[in-house]
Amino acid sequence: MPSLSRDPSVPLSSNLHLRRWVDKMRQLTQPDAVHWVDGSDEENAFLRDQLIKNGTLTELNQDLWPGCYYAKSDPNDVARVEQRTFICSLSKDNAGPTNNWVDPYEMRRRLKDLFSGAMAGRTMYVLPYCMGTIGSPMARIGVQLTDSPYVVVSMRIMARIGLPVFREIDLDKQRVVPCMHTVGAPLRQGERDVPWPCNPEKYIVHFPETREIWSYGSGYGGNALLGKKCFGLRIASNMARDEGWMAEHMLILGIEDPHGEKTYVAAAFPSACGKTNLAMLIPPDGMTGWKVSMVGDDIAWIKPDREGRLRAINPEAGVFGVAPGTSASTNPVAMATIARNTIFTNVALTPEGGVWWEGMTDTPPAECLDWQGKTWTPASGTPAAHPNARFTAPASQCPMIDADWEAPEGVPLSAIIFGGRRATTMPLAYQSFNWSTGVYVGATMGSETTAAATGQVGKVRRDPMAMLPFCGYHMGDYFRHWIKMQRLIRETPKIFHVNWFRKDADGKFMWPGYRENMRVLKWIVDRVHGRVLARETPIGWMPRYSDLDWTGLDFPRATFDELQFVDPQAWRNEVMGHEELFIALHDHLPPEMVYERELLICRL
Ligand code: OXD
Ligand code: MN
Repeated sequence: MPSLSRDPSVPLSSNLHLRRWVDKMRQLTQPDAVHWVDGSDEENAFLRDQLIKNGTLTELNQDLWPGCYYAKSDPNDVARVEQRTFICSLSKDNAGPTNNWVDPYEMRRRLKDLFSGAMAGRTMYVLPYCMGTIGSPMARIGVQLTDSPYVVVSMRIMARIGLPVFREIDLDKQRVVPCMHTVGAPLRQGERDVPWPCNPEKYIVHFPETREIWSYGSGYGGNALLGKKCFGLRIASNMARDEGWMAEHMLILGIEDPHGEKTYVAAAFPSACGKTNLAMLIPPDGMTGWKVSMVGDDIAWIKPDREGRLRAINPEAGVFGVAPGTSASTNPVAMATIARNTIFTNVALTPEGGVWWEGMTDTPPAECLDWQGKTWTPASGTPAAHPNARFTAPASQCPMIDADWEAPEGVPLSAIIFGGRRATTMPLAYQSFNWSTGVYVGATMGSETTAAATGQVGKVRRDPMAMLPFCGYHMGDYFRHWIKMQRLIRETPKIFHVNWFRKDADGKFMWPGYRENMRVLKWIVDRVHGRVLARETPIGWMPRYSDLDWTGLDFPRATFDELQFVDPQAWRNEVMGHEELFIALHDHLPPEMVYERELLICRL
């Protein structure tokens, strides 16, 4: 049985502010013990052992899945809870109409009640973590106090944690973001724990002015791994606005041409648009010499360097990806990334101690345990894995990780891509005329809703820059920040919009997608370097058929023309749709957005 060779209650930091805060929170939450997290292998084995004993983790067959573990959550704790997510800025106006807001004084009162004694019977872990590589000028530090050891072992994959972070804190060079987290399930004396403690009541709260995060009631994903959406996007977007940089919901890719020249691009897509697949793209066989590498799959922190060139870092250290649909044919790189040292949550468990989910293999296992631990067969009529089942794996295990993915100064960014899932109207690819038109394109992007989410198929949900659930302040001010960033950038990246999901009159996808998306990426790289001309249209610059590399793909010119068609009537409706968003944001909307809309109407 793994044990610890040190006393974990001994503080690992000499920082008095930190120690006082830990003490104050200990008094509030009343844990049985305090454990300062050093991030070591020994500690990880010790925590894992505890989790296994508690039934939270199951060790997978180590011959098949070395270093891999499996967890199943409470059925009421399976995803981010947007309705329970709050931006508690001092004024409601600063949170804007797209965020939930509660008066911060009122919210603090509520949280104090909820957190009082909330950790009784549990251990409070003092988990220091760094977003970005330690020592990078773009890195930022948080300390999460949590009563969930599952969170500690998961954050060890998703961020840089432990002693080196305490050392940074002791140097006192930057303000640390305090993050309070409890699963909200105190244990009475002698009470037995459940495998996945949580509370039906949930609160994911951000105080942007004091840069604080308080999370109550959930142990799952973005609700509980506070470095990801809470810090990495909601708090970081506030820091970025105040400090002149950008915290974006974007993957980052390196694209190397056959001569070895590398171009970095960042791309924002709403959920369910294949972001992880694009981040791990293998070019089609015909495109010899082209290589893609991944810097990040979800979050980009972007900042102009001294020369005024935008540089991007991936502040995370792991991938927290949706498992269903991932397979050796849709994403072999992801399958290789998660083959070891991975925590799987809410997938199905096979009899030989492996994992399975819908879409992983053509033939499902004859029998397995579903994500709730019930016997499942292909005849069950329910999914074996929860649709939001996840893998948590070290990004360093990605076979196509970029050589500079941990470069402290980040990678130089030459293009930004926006995209959504649109069956109509949106062509495969176009380039916006300039930065301000590009900001308009990002601000008005959207994705069609699926029946599962809303009951309405095909209604466009506007998701500006894919930041709707993640922008930690007023969306209109966020657009203004994008517009203002241009003044700090000497060479602005080119901005593009792509849509892999346009359908023909028979409802069939017109574009094959997946690896073939590389053809569009190549066009984007060619545009960045001025190697290819483009056709001017009312919405932007568009590739002609001959501008794309078709080697190895028989794609009819007529289908391409249909795919790229800018239908004036559909675009008039589209612009009316933009108006709905703008009305909601009108009192904070920068005038540039209104001018861009007017100009688009004139061009149409
Ligand atoms: C995610 C999301 O989990 O965007 O990354 O929801
Ligand atoms: Mn995301």
